[in-house]
Amino acid sequence: MNNGTILKLNNIEVMYHEVILVLKGVSIDVPQGGIVALLGANGAGKSTTLKSISGLLKHEDGEVTDGSIEFMGEKIHHLSAEEIAKKGIFQIIEGRRVFEHLTVEENLRVGAHLRGTGSASKERLEMVYRYFPRLVDRKNVLAGFISGGEQQMTVIGRAMMAQPKLMLLDEPSMGLAPLLIKEIFEIIKKLNKEEKIPLLLVEQNVKLALTVAPYAYVLENGRLVMHDTSEKLKENPDIRDFYLGLSDIGERKSFRQVKHYKRRKRWLT
Ligand SMILES: Nc1ncnc2c1ncn2[C@@H]1O[C@H](COP(=O)(O)OP(=O)(O)OP(=O)(O)O)[C@@H](O)[C@H]1O
Ligand SMILES: [Mg+2]
Repeated sequence: MNNGTILKLNNIEVMYHEVILVLKGVSIDVPQGGIVALLGANGAGKSTTLKSISGLLKHEDGEVTDGSIEFMGEKIHHLSAEEIAKKGIFQIIEGRRVFEHLTVEENLRVGAHLRGTGSASKERLEMVYRYFPRLVDRKNVLAGFISGGEQQMTVIGRAMMAQPKLMLLDEPSMGLAPLLIKEIFEIIKKLNKEEKIPLLLVEQNVKLALTVAPYAYVLENGRLVMHDTSEKLKENPDIRDFYLGLSDIGERKSFRQVKHYKRRKRWLT
């Protein structure tokens, strides 16, 4: 294993309920301290990939049935979600799950216990408030009553409390206003840069993802169809057509259909 790689997915296959094959040979590398984006249409298997890393898959009767997942050189795909969290991997799941009946600060304090490392240190809380200054004013408010953006910040802050070694973010921009998305992504970038936390980022907002992450993988129907530097992907005509909405093809179809369409078009003209 390459010394610069913190997370390595080797050709993993994932099944739900022992019959539904969802990931069909996915290999992904996340470099130490890096940001990697995982892109793909609805149902491509992005959340499943993150859940297979965090172990949450097992709570949905899913299983890694082939291949392996290595974190810091150690195979982790047979471990429970709790054991994986203890190792420092945290998934920010889709849909911002705060504890609604706890205050913002109580939500953050819960994070300190996620790795079983005891109570929240004052320094750790101060660090989270430094990154998310909006939460300072809201710290005594019940998390069920704060805005969606503030809830997303609380969820990320909660993971920060656990001193994560790797964060998996599942569509942090979902349902948020553009200005808030910008604010949250600035903070995410800063966290990565200053705290050196490696990130695997799932995003439907491809333009944004390719700006934040220097490297990206494209998943379709449970298979990787492409991976490259974001610079190259931004220039790739198929990516531009299908994900960046820069084409005249019209209705968005699957990535493969876009390719076939273009081949046909080339052939016809
Ligand atoms: N618990 C489950 N049991 C059975 N099938 C599932 C389960 N969870 C997901 N799937 C199926 O696996 C496939 C991939 O789902 P997944 O949620 O990973 O996609 P996604 O790329 O995250 O999509 P989205 O962009 O909509 O969030 C889909 O066909 C979905 O129906
Ligand atoms: Mg998903």
